Amino acid sequence: MRSRTTSSVPLALSLLLVPALALGAPAGAKSAGGSGTLRSAFVGKGGPLPQGVKVGWSHAAYENGDCSICHVGKDPKNPGALKGPVNELCFQCHEEFTAVMSRPVKHPPAVERCTNCHNAHNATEKKLLNAEIYTLCTGCHTKIKSIAENAKVKHGALSTGSKCVSCHNPHAANVEKLLVQLPFDLCVNCHSRDDVKDPSGKTLVNFSKLLAANKVWHAPVANKDCSACHMTHGSDNFRLLVEDYPAKFYAPYDPKNYALCFTCHNDKVAATPETTTLTNFRDGSRNLHYVHVHKEERGRTCRACHEVHASPNEHQLRDKTPFGAGGWSLNVGWQKTPTGGQCSKTCHDTKQYTNKTIATKK
Ligand code: HEC
Ligand code: HEC
Ligand code: HEC
Ligand code: HEC
Ligand code: HEC
Ligand code: HEC
Ligand code: HEC
Ligand code: HEC
Ligand code: HEC
Repeated sequence: MRSRTTSSVPLALSLLLVPALALGAPAGAKSAGGSGTLRSAFVGKGGPLPQGVKVGWSHAAYENGDCSICHVGKDPKNPGALKGPVNELCFQCHEEFTAVMSRPVKHPPAVERCTNCHNAHNATEKKLLNAEIYTLCTGCHTKIKSIAENAKVKHGALSTGSKCVSCHNPHAANVEKLLVQLPFDLCVNCHSRDDVKDPSGKTLVNFSKLLAANKVWHAPVANKDCSACHMTHGSDNFRLLVEDYPAKFYAPYDPKNYALCFTCHNDKVAATPETTTLTNFRDGSRNLHYVHVHKEERGRTCRACHEVHASPNEHQLRDKTPFGAGGWSLNVGWQKTPTGGQCSKTCHDTKQYTNKTIATKK
């Protein structure tokens, strides 16, 4: 059934297998069934769908039955070899793709041949894809597949809407990692609605509103680096975080619970009862970070006072803190005073602290 083009197919695919190996296939995959298992079954099948398979989408260029648009022959029974390199054939009609494919960041399988993902004749999938998008992409990107499927916290962006291509251009892009936008814009744009809910049904904050209303952006957010703290494709930590951070308002004190914050901040901040150097949140030498956070069971987590993305006050301090499952907020009411600071009467009576000695930060 295969025409003379066959000879070039395995060569091209074997070229592709080398980088595919580097994508991080599980160690067992190679030995499990040789290189064949690394190559997704649908990659490079090439010809029209076999008879009996229900055609979902047919290519205009193939529909009219003139095989010689791409093959040397007209005869559908034996159309013969291709007239030229695959991509050149496609560019004849899809002229805009010459521009697309000259963008600085190119996807190797698209440079190699368009038919690594598309069937030139017909397909069960829309856009003439050889497989549904998630299956197509993860067929080669096995490491991402493993993260996406095994992570305890999954990112809905990978499994809803356009899936991988909501964020990546499958062909070529102007942003590294084939991203369709700068990563910060990507995250913020999708998270700028009031109806994005996590799997437990909790509505997630609207980021454009949050960032617009709160002028003090946490340094990594101001650097537009959401990935400093979040893993896009999936994570074992709460909220897709790169390291541990408690999920609830109260948590037992253990520096490991705050590994996220302590990758960048001094992990001693809540470890010592008395200090005049570790923190400015102290009354004289009484470390108020220690007082609040360092409890065997119900230590207040950083979120009790700090808003990690953007806050209305300096030091990432909140005006209000979320409390309990009922969606309640308590006033923090922090104010700077000439000699330190004070918090309003909510969690306790209004209290002041004095930290006149300037502490060395970090
Ligand atoms: C738009 C271009 C285009 C048209 C039109 C086209 N083909 Fe193809 N065909 C290709 C490409 C490209 C391949 C190689 C697929 C690959 O790279 O894996 C191919 C491969 C094939 C193969 C498999 C070759 C093999 O090695 O087994 C068959 C069979 C085939 N075409 C049949 C046809 C028939 C029959 C027609 C006309 C009714 C036709 N094609 C029209 C582009 C086209
Ligand atoms: C003879 C002209 C011609 C050639 C050659 C051609 N195409 Fe097309 N292609 C079309 C037309 C016409 C359409 C339908 C109009 C549209 O959707 O833009 C189309 C549509 C498509 C679509 C979109 C289908 C959809 O559902 O939106 C894909 C993907 C595609 N072609 C891929 C390819 C690839 C890959 C090649 C090279 C193997 C190729 N085309 C070669 C004319 C061509
Ligand atoms: C790595 C897989 C992959 C390769 C290789 C690939 N494409 Fe695509 N292509 C896709 C996906 C996925 C879509 C659907 C995008 C979407 O739905 O937003 C698509 C969409 C298209 C479309 C429909 C119009 C559009 O932009 O949505 C055309 C035309 C097309 N591709 C042509 C090509 C051509 C020409 C090549 C070779 C230069 C190529 N593709 C190589 C994955 C690929
Ligand atoms: C046929 C195999 C194959 C398919 C299918 C495939 N890729 Fe790739 N992809 C590669 C190879 C090979 C590379 C280059 C190796 C690398 O950089 O990791 C690559 C690179 C990438 C990169 C850039 C990696 C980097 O570090 O710069 C991204 C992002 C990507 N692919 C996303 C996708 C998405 C999204 C899809 C589905 C639309 C997809 N890939 C489908 C083989 C494939
Ligand atoms: C929500 C946006 C988004 C979605 C959806 C998404 N990615 Fe990514 N991807 C990114 C960003 C951002 C990066 C850059 C590195 C990072 O921050 O993780 C990236 C990096 C990559 C890389 C480069 C390797 C790496 O880990 O840095 C590959 C390959 C990749 N993605 C493949 C995929 C595949 C396959 C899918 C679908 C299963 C997918 N991505 C879905 C945003 C996304
Ligand atoms: C295409 C839309 C889209 C993009 C782009 C996107 N997200 Fe999401 N994100 C969602 C949706 C939908 C949810 C809620 C559903 C879910 O995760 O199951 C979500 C949930 C989350 C969650 C909470 C996950 C949980 O279950 O606790 C975090 C954290 C998150 N996204 C961060 C990011 C970051 C960082 C980026 C940029 C790299 C980003 N998102 C880009 C759509 C998107
Ligand atoms: C310094 C680390 C850090 C950076 C940088 C960061 N985040 Fe977060 N993010 C967190 C932490 C910690 C949480 C959990 C907050 C909580 O529950 O108190 C979180 C929670 C979230 C949530 C869930 C919000 C909700 O309503 O519960 C989303 C969505 C999110 N981040 C997206 C982003 C986006 C988008 C960016 C980039 C603009 C970003 N994050 C940058 C640490 C960070
Ligand atoms: C009970 C409220 C509260 C809690 C809980 C809290 N902080 Fe603070 N934090 C403050 C206040 C108030 C300041 C500002 C002190 C000043 O400059 O007057 C501060 C300041 C800081 C600073 C700036 C440097 C310094 O110490 O003066 C960092 C960094 C910091 N906190 C990190 C954290 C981390 C990490 C956690 C969780 C482990 C946490 N905070 C928990 C109230 C709190
Ligand atoms: C990727 C690094 C990084 C991570 C992770 C990180 N921060 Fe920060 N944070 C910074 C930088 C940089 C600054 C600005 C320099 C400074 O003041 O220390 C900052 C500033 C702060 C401030 C204000 C300090 C001041 O004096 O005004 C607070 C409070 C704070 N971070 C709390 C947290 C908390 C709570 C976490 C964990 C949820 C956290 N940070 C995670 C990098 C990080």
